[in-house]
Amino acid sequence: MTAEDPLVVFTPSGRRGRMAAGSTVLEAARTLAVDLDSVCGGRGICGRCQVTQSIGEFAKHGISSTPDHLGAWTETEETYRGKRGLGDGRRLGCAAAVLGDVVIDVPAESQVHRQVVRKRAEVHAIDVDPVVRLYYVEVAEPDMHDPTGDAQRLLAALHDQWELTGLTIDSTVLREVQPALRRGQWTVTVAVHDGATITAVWPGFRDTAFGIAVDIGSTTIAGHLCDLFTGEVRASAGVMNPQIRFGEDLMSRVSYVMMNPGGDAELTAAVRDALDGLIGELAAEAGIDRRDVLELTFVGNPIMHHLFLGLDPTELGGAPFALATDAAVRLPARELGLACHPGARVYVLPCIAGHVGADTAGAMLSEAPHRSAETQLLVDVGTNAEIVLGNRDRLLAASSPTGPAFEGAQISSGTRAAVGAIERVRIDADTLEPRYQVIGSDLWSDDPEFAAEKIDIIGVCGSGIIEVIAELFLAGVIRSDGTIDPAAADRNPRVIADGRTASYVLRDAAPRLLVTQNDVRAIQLAKAALYAGAKLLMDHLGVDRVDQIRLAGAFGSHIDTTYAMVLGLIPDCDLERVSAAGNAAGVGAVLALLSGASRAEVEGLVRKVEKIETAVEPRFQEHFVDAMALPHATADYPELARVVTLPARTEPATPERRRRRRRPDHNQEGPE
Ligand code: FES
Repeated sequence: MTAEDPLVVFTPSGRRGRMAAGSTVLEAARTLAVDLDSVCGGRGICGRCQVTQSIGEFAKHGISSTPDHLGAWTETEETYRGKRGLGDGRRLGCAAAVLGDVVIDVPAESQVHRQVVRKRAEVHAIDVDPVVRLYYVEVAEPDMHDPTGDAQRLLAALHDQWELTGLTIDSTVLREVQPALRRGQWTVTVAVHDGATITAVWPGFRDTAFGIAVDIGSTTIAGHLCDLFTGEVRASAGVMNPQIRFGEDLMSRVSYVMMNPGGDAELTAAVRDALDGLIGELAAEAGIDRRDVLELTFVGNPIMHHLFLGLDPTELGGAPFALATDAAVRLPARELGLACHPGARVYVLPCIAGHVGADTAGAMLSEAPHRSAETQLLVDVGTNAEIVLGNRDRLLAASSPTGPAFEGAQISSGTRAAVGAIERVRIDADTLEPRYQVIGSDLWSDDPEFAAEKIDIIGVCGSGIIEVIAELFLAGVIRSDGTIDPAAADRNPRVIADGRTASYVLRDAAPRLLVTQNDVRAIQLAKAALYAGAKLLMDHLGVDRVDQIRLAGAFGSHIDTTYAMVLGLIPDCDLERVSAAGNAAGVGAVLALLSGASRAEVEGLVRKVEKIETAVEPRFQEHFVDAMALPHATADYPELARVVTLPARTEPATPERRRRRRRPDHNQEGPE
């Protein structure tokens, strides 16, 4: 190039260089390594190469970009505009010729690695950069004098037109090559997975493909169907995990496998069946054919992960909780019996440890503590709490045996979070009279309209249990050691003294709902396990406070963070920095679906994270005992004290009291 050749400047990348006059904008972009998309290879079919010329004097670049510096409107653009429309000022990069100095703007939708800004501002944006790319090619027709096979001519065309080398064709896709070439009149679009394997062939031109990201929870399975190239979530759906019929919690499912030969195959078949139904439901909701699904990603706790992949989970049922594999798993979807495109590929995120699964890996990918200078505590509360602590310098992970109390199990009035479950509770500190809200209504129970809602109350769900116990603590009915004070019966007959223990009547009408001493104990055990796990990680990291707390999962999304801190589920922290993370694991699965770089990131992350085994840490026991008190026997809560007046501690923890306490059994469980 000479100084006389036109200078082309691309924004927003700022890349610039001289091109021979008459080159197309797409050619300039390729030469200058500018991210400008193309599926059709510059044939004016796909419209992915759209650009806008910026007109004016650009002193910064030392050029004048005038309309005549781009070639005249072409027939190709006219045809494309007639068929698919082209916005004002838009040109097709593959058709517009560079005639003089120009500034070319590449809009986000024309970039291969376009950024999708996530809804929550605090989470980093992601680059949509799926492992699948589509390529449109024109293939030479067969010739009597050249016996080359159709597949080889397709590969040669991909080499010539797209410079793709070393490709292989998926065995089930091979049989589609010949019919596709003929139906497409020797033009086809191929999907190339990971730059290596052709996983789909369609006749003619095509520019869409879809993927599904799934979070396999032990109770529910949630999926999102996404456009692989725009990143748009086209459908979301959930189904119950049918493995529940083999056991409500994860340990009982492992027991089923241990007691029944072939039980693992039954559980595997059940979850795969449900997934197959979910794929159908998502495709129907998005209005697409399930055969257009080319990629699937999965997260789940270690037991769900193993059962989905057809791996025996028995080793996860006891120490040392050995995983069959902790690496990411890549395989064809057909090997898992999932009906979508025959060449579709599955990616299962890596597990971290025997108790800390691919769901936590997904949550880490989503919440990105490894990108932050601040120390983040990320907790996914299920029947096991999976806990991650750290920042960009160091990351630690552990699980803690919280048991099912937070989900309403082991609680006299407990129930799952469903319509009719009490989820919010307020207790008047003077009169001790309660009011509550139930799932299915926005009204409080003391609202005159509440009865008209006619919702059958079924019990108290996890968030309701946290609130009623926290409110009773703040009202002085429950002491900081967790005992319900029988003397409070003098303040309101809702407190029923029964010998040395007492209960609180949350609801007197049928169904009568009580908070018993055993309920409080069950919550104390669960919250002490959660706090002790977090504190253990803080010890290892050498910090005595965290900058930010994220509560992931269904329970984490519904509990009131202030009440969670009043009970001491989590360490003290500025309450403004304590928030719900939603289904962070599922978001992680979506990220891995839409971005090959996210897969590399999560695989690097799990190698980097230090695994702490709470079961063998003596300090866990100490932390556990101290954390039995409300909110804690020794730790101060200065941040919490700024917004809530905490009752005085009942008594200091003593060595004898510590000995009397017992830590719960380590129990392999996962979220939900
Ligand atoms: Fe496909 Fe321009 S590259 S229309």
